[in-house]
Amino acid sequence: MSRRVVVTGHNGYLGSVMTPLLVEAGYNVVGLDTGYFSECTLIPDAVQVPWIQKDLRDAAIQDLEGAETVIHLAALSNDPIGNLNPQWTEAINCQASVRLAELAKEAGVRRFLFSSSCIMYGVSEAVTVNEDSPLDPKTAYARSKVQSEQAIARLADDTFSPTFLRNGTIYGLSPRMRFDTVLNNLVTAAVTTGKIVLHSDGTPWRPVAHVQDIARAFLHVLEAPIELVHNQAFNNGEARMNHQVRELAETVAQIVPGCRIECVASADADQRTYKTDFGKFTRTFPDFRFTWSVEEGARGLADAFHSTGLTYEDFTDQRFTRLKWLRHLLESGRLDDSLRWQAIAAINS
Ligand SMILES: NC(=O)c1ccc[n+]([C@@H]2O[C@H](COP(=O)([O-])OP(=O)(O)OC[C@H]3O[C@@H](n4cnc5c(N)ncnc54)[C@H](O)[C@@H]3O)[C@@H](O)[C@H]2O)c1
Repeated sequence: MSRRVVVTGHNGYLGSVMTPLLVEAGYNVVGLDTGYFSECTLIPDAVQVPWIQKDLRDAAIQDLEGAETVIHLAALSNDPIGNLNPQWTEAINCQASVRLAELAKEAGVRRFLFSSSCIMYGVSEAVTVNEDSPLDPKTAYARSKVQSEQAIARLADDTFSPTFLRNGTIYGLSPRMRFDTVLNNLVTAAVTTGKIVLHSDGTPWRPVAHVQDIARAFLHVLEAPIELVHNQAFNNGEARMNHQVRELAETVAQIVPGCRIECVASADADQRTYKTDFGKFTRTFPDFRFTWSVEEGARGLADAFHSTGLTYEDFTDQRFTRLKWLRHLLESGRLDDSLRWQAIAAINS
């Protein structure tokens, strides 16, 4: 049986942690990624795999032939990028994702794991959301995940099994580091400035999960009996992963000596709040353990930042905030106004 797995977005934050894990588990991994963030490396990659360097919008059936599974991570990966230009998010995250799934099915790929997000439940004050809760996407990014899931689910049949893993906010060390996700941001601020500034009262709830746990969970689902995962959506995590932002900040402040917390009222404060019910994942995969706690994860990050001598300049460096880096690529003319590499467009013309 072929063990070939195509991982889109393998060069990103989650992908560069998941890829070595898959290789170690014996899979023949091929990456497909346009490489928006290939220069945004904090620590070296653990492995190099064959890389189809192309835009997801140009994916072809030949890229997928012979694969037993596609793990689809490639996306414009947050709300701020979606707000910059909703059409890009619609085209890449939704249209190109659905087309990728259609190509995968045509190529005979059996499983399709889609990296989705709990953000699709919207702002659900004091509500705990499970996979059957109404979806209420508030942003272009959230809508792209809902629409992709719905369209890809319609492709499911005896030959093609999509699975939708709805992640919380991910934290932890990765070669293609991001400081723009909540816990990563708090730890980096604490280590490099000695303070954490909360732009809300800290009461919003967030499900947060360690990048290695999320990568392991994808591998577990990939290896699960197909009837358990066929055309299913799972909130990817377990109950203890719901935290209030204030509690995350306090945990970080305890770990980083001398760190203080400041609350600054801000009109555009991020007040999204949701608690996620992870019961379906736990019931379906009773043998799987999410191993990281926030405390261990924050400590791991702080230790890594201390030992690599991470500075305030690194913290604010555009390479580690997805929106800033894409803006830089656009403003320097390296990406065109459809978010494609200029140099590649010139070579092809
Ligand atoms: N990081 C999180 O907290 C989080 C939470 C929930 C869901 N997710 C989802 O998980 C996936 C991975 O997230 P991440 O944090 O690794 O994001 P990331 O931005 O670090 O990585 C995304 C990767 O996709 C690639 N990509 C983007 N557009 C592309 C295109 N048009 N063609 C080819 N490649 C393209 C980028 O080059 C990048 O390597 C995304 O689908 C994201 O929406 C992430």
